[in-house]
Amino acid sequence: MSQQILLLPGDGIGPEITTEAEKVLNAAIERFDLDITTDTALVGGAAYDATGEPLPEETLAKAKAADAILFGAIGGPKWDTIERSKRPERGLLKLRSSLGLFANLRPAILFPQLASASSLKPEIVSGLDILIVRELTGGIYFGEPRGLREENGERVGFNTMVYSESEIRRIAKVAFELAQTRGKKLCSVDKANVLEVTELWKEVVNDVAKDYPEVEVSHMYVDNAAMQLVRAPKQFDVVVTGNLFGDILSDEAAMLTGSIGMLPSASLDVNRKGLYEPCHGSAPDIAGQNLANPLAAILSLAMLMRYSFERADVAQAIEDAVESVLEQGLRTGDIYTEGTTKVGCDAMGDAVVKALLAK
Ligand code: IPM
Ligand code: MG
Repeated sequence: MSQQILLLPGDGIGPEITTEAEKVLNAAIERFDLDITTDTALVGGAAYDATGEPLPEETLAKAKAADAILFGAIGGPKWDTIERSKRPERGLLKLRSSLGLFANLRPAILFPQLASASSLKPEIVSGLDILIVRELTGGIYFGEPRGLREENGERVGFNTMVYSESEIRRIAKVAFELAQTRGKKLCSVDKANVLEVTELWKEVVNDVAKDYPEVEVSHMYVDNAAMQLVRAPKQFDVVVTGNLFGDILSDEAAMLTGSIGMLPSASLDVNRKGLYEPCHGSAPDIAGQNLANPLAAILSLAMLMRYSFERADVAQAIEDAVESVLEQGLRTGDIYTEGTTKVGCDAMGDAVVKALLAK
């Protein structure tokens, strides 16, 4: 039976980068003779405009039926002022929670060709290979109570940061398993000096650690982790943390690699069914101008092949093709440096296709 990928292009630069990822998918299907079919659905602001909902029932049903999802990006100023529950971001959050995509893998890998695109000195970042494992369906993003209320004649906003032992345990296990296949170092990031919820986080991580004696575990407060990431990022191998800290630290880690336009991610459920998306947003300022970097979307497709379809060979071939276009000196604006060749989103996608089929 053929495997199904649902494409959710979304808003802003989402459709452009998803088109390029789809071209690369078709090239992979051709080269490896894969039996994969695709379907497309609306999400985010585009879905709101067409149906009044950022995650229409039809899209959710298709997402549940698919074997894997390739997601573009969502949001934009056009929808910033609509009712909160209808905003594009809510569509993505509902998708993550409805599908139980609790494990978010965000690798920050520096392609050697981009060492000079990083804002840090090349010797600090060369050879960088960090994996951030972010809990994605709990914590302050979903905690209740939440909201806005009137108190003593003024407005008060509130959210709840909450984690159960079982939620911490299952993300910690994923992180330890991954650390075992890599550098065998796991750093758990918390704010246990102030927040009880992360005091529990630390305790549970230490408990899970007993099952993985070969992994060296350490703990770091989130403020220190933010500093260490720019001071000496290569001290990290796998980092595990909660939803909000992971959101912030993964953007920071992305910039170490030269551009957030390079970073893919995987969001997995307990069965490794996954949603794959670039870490970057919808970049409305450059949307529709053929300026976006499609490589994060293309590398997200590689992660899809690796984690959901268990085709490490296909994943590696796509990653090699990306490395080869960088080696050729092709750069979108976000990773451009003097002496390289500036290309648009579609030319970048075409070059990856060509490299993938040239093998
Ligand atoms: C991310 C994004 C999302 C998040 C937004 C768009 C809701 O920033 O995937 O990191 O905060 O999780
Ligand atoms: Mg984010």
